[in-house]
Amino acid sequence: MDNNTSENKKTVLSLVQASGTPTLGNYLGAFKNWKEMARDNDCIFGVADLHAITVRSKPADLRRRSVEMYAMLLALGLDPEKNIVFMQSHVQEHALLGWVLNCYTQFGEASRMTQFKDKSARHADNVNVGLFTYPILMAADILLYQADMVPVGDDQKQHLEITRDIAARFNSIYGDVFKLPEPYIGKHGAKILSLQEPEKKMSKSDPNVKAFISLTDSTDTVVKKIKSAVTDSEARVYYAEGKAGINNLMTIYSCCTGKDFAEIEREFDGKGYGDFKAAVAEAVAEELRPLREEYEHILTDKQYIEKCAAEGAEKASAIARRTMRKVMKKVGFYQL
Ligand code: TYM
Repeated sequence: MDNNTSENKKTVLSLVQASGTPTLGNYLGAFKNWKEMARDNDCIFGVADLHAITVRSKPADLRRRSVEMYAMLLALGLDPEKNIVFMQSHVQEHALLGWVLNCYTQFGEASRMTQFKDKSARHADNVNVGLFTYPILMAADILLYQADMVPVGDDQKQHLEITRDIAARFNSIYGDVFKLPEPYIGKHGAKILSLQEPEKKMSKSDPNVKAFISLTDSTDTVVKKIKSAVTDSEARVYYAEGKAGINNLMTIYSCCTGKDFAEIEREFDGKGYGDFKAAVAEAVAEELRPLREEYEHILTDKQYIEKCAAEGAEKASAIARRTMRKVMKKVGFYQL
């Protein structure tokens, strides 16, 4: 990271779970903003592999998915020389601060997290305590680095709120230990919906693969998935309540082309959904193609990935240790 940090540079931090190939939702809701913010700020981006074990997986799968997600972050163009790109489990302070913060979080406030309710319904056979304390580990991820801004999609907003509440509570007892982070949620793309059930979020863990576009999908697959996206029977392209499928495709098209909704409505005036879907598919495929190619290239160079991850871990650890030392002292742990 740049040591000559100028006054107006912000510390921007965000992580993505190592729980499968990321989707167009991850890209438009988070990654695209990360890439833009990385130009002018001190950025810390990471793979949340500790969070990923709240859902059971084979050791080899977790390892592969973590490396793949890390390669995807590099492929986004997050320069590991200028930014910190790291894996959460390489910095042990995350788990330590997570424990400390557990003791400053009320059971009732953690119980209100909607993502916990959703996930425990989906994984009814494994409602582990980690799933419940998940947002507190996320708070630790953020607070360790004194982040100013956290670019996320809409679904993480509540986790940012609890992070601020925990930090404010801790600060009210011990003084100014943590910076209160602001969420950064893009105007468009913060909630990309399923292509098959446009009332639901697009998610990489959806059992129906036609519901999401994965960032590694070929152009052919992208075209097929968008062609089969659920719409309505009106056959007129405009943004309105009750047109969730079309609204979603318009949002995706807008994010990929920079055109606003009025422009898109004019462009497809008098045309049917076939033309519209073909244009959306082309825009998405063009947006993702360079990323996919770069990703495939980086994945072939395991040594480069390892070197970047080691450097990322070292730089992240230096910051995390500094915050942790302060926390331990404030709480009253005996210092050696
Ligand atoms: P995760 O891995 O589910 O998603 C990573 C990022 O992608 C965004 N996102 C979406 N945005 C728009 N539309 C969608 N359909 C969509 N799906 C996902 C998410 O909002 C997120 O920004 N708990 C986090 C990971 C995490 C984290 C952190 C984030 C762990 N520690 C610290 C920020 C700061 C998660 O599960 O994101």
